[in-house]
Amino acid sequence: MTWLITGGAGYIGAHVVHAMTEAGERTVVYDDLSTGLPDRVPDGVPLVVGSVLDGERVARALADHEVTGVVHLAAKKQVGESVELPLHYYRENVEGLRVLLEAVTAAGTASSFVFSSSAAVYGTPSTGAELVTEDTPCLPMSPYGETKLAGEWLVRATGRAAGLSTASLRYFNVAGAARPELADTGVYNLVPMVFEKLTANEPPRVFGDDYPTPDGTCVRDYIHVVDLAEAHVAAARALRATPGRDLTLNIGRGEGVSVRGMIDRINALTGHDLAPTVAPRRPGDPANVVASADRAATELGWKARHGVDAMITSAWAGWQRLHPGT
Ligand code: WQD
Repeated sequence: MTWLITGGAGYIGAHVVHAMTEAGERTVVYDDLSTGLPDRVPDGVPLVVGSVLDGERVARALADHEVTGVVHLAAKKQVGESVELPLHYYRENVEGLRVLLEAVTAAGTASSFVFSSSAAVYGTPSTGAELVTEDTPCLPMSPYGETKLAGEWLVRATGRAAGLSTASLRYFNVAGAARPELADTGVYNLVPMVFEKLTANEPPRVFGDDYPTPDGTCVRDYIHVVDLAEAHVAAARALRATPGRDLTLNIGRGEGVSVRGMIDRINALTGHDLAPTVAPRRPGDPANVVASADRAATELGWKARHGVDAMITSAWAGWQRLHPGT
């Protein structure tokens, strides 16, 4: 079986490619290199440079490499940017997925499709402080989250109509790296944003400390990218083993950590001691989003193995590689 990994030169996608190849699966990377880096693709794995919006290029890649399964990660993923550029996000994330699915179903060779979704589909979960299950109502609060929810619908409907086994994996807050060369190069999430401040010898910022949480700061479910990549391997194998599956799964640890808690660990593990300053709340931030990870355990036999310390130390090694002298 050969898996086409769209977005396989990106931060998360490259971890998926490495995990799949290490598990003995054959992979081909399909990436437009808008944010992906060719160096992240392992030796021996073909890289096709193209956009998922280019149906002919996708069709040729499917045929050339005799693709029998797809893991689709190629997408735009910045929540704030999606508010400014909704048309761009709908085009890249929804139209791109539609074109990809059209090529996949026309080729008729693939039996499995794994889709990269997000906890952003939940918006502010109606459950409040409880764990978010896959049955918690989805009310996305950004165009980004909307495109991921629409993507899940498109994947499920196409799977049913075309006889594809499908899985939508709802990622919670991803951090860490398998090795420094695979680290996230973007500075858009809490961990790298704190690293940036510490490196500049400035206090990290807490966006709001008056939330209804134990220490007043937002609580999230941080997941190591290595565990997330292993969830893709498990999902790909589950789809292959059982035709006609239709999975929607939270990929988290089921454990909440507050912003202050994360900053404390980052300070301790990187040898800094900069107390955070409190900045205004960031519009749209829910107080508490923590996964129930039970369904992924039941359906895939998958469970996260790493905690936040491993995420922080591995991410820090990647940061130091990108910023020598820090
Ligand atoms: C985490 C918490 C911030 C920086 C988003 C998307 C989600 C997924 C991951 C894409 C929040 C706080 C942050 C800082 C802070 N995206 N914070 N100081 O918003 O939970 O999730 O990214 O695939 O779908 O919604 O992640 O890392 O931006 O923020 O206090 O300097 O850290 O306010 O409470 P978020 P995040």
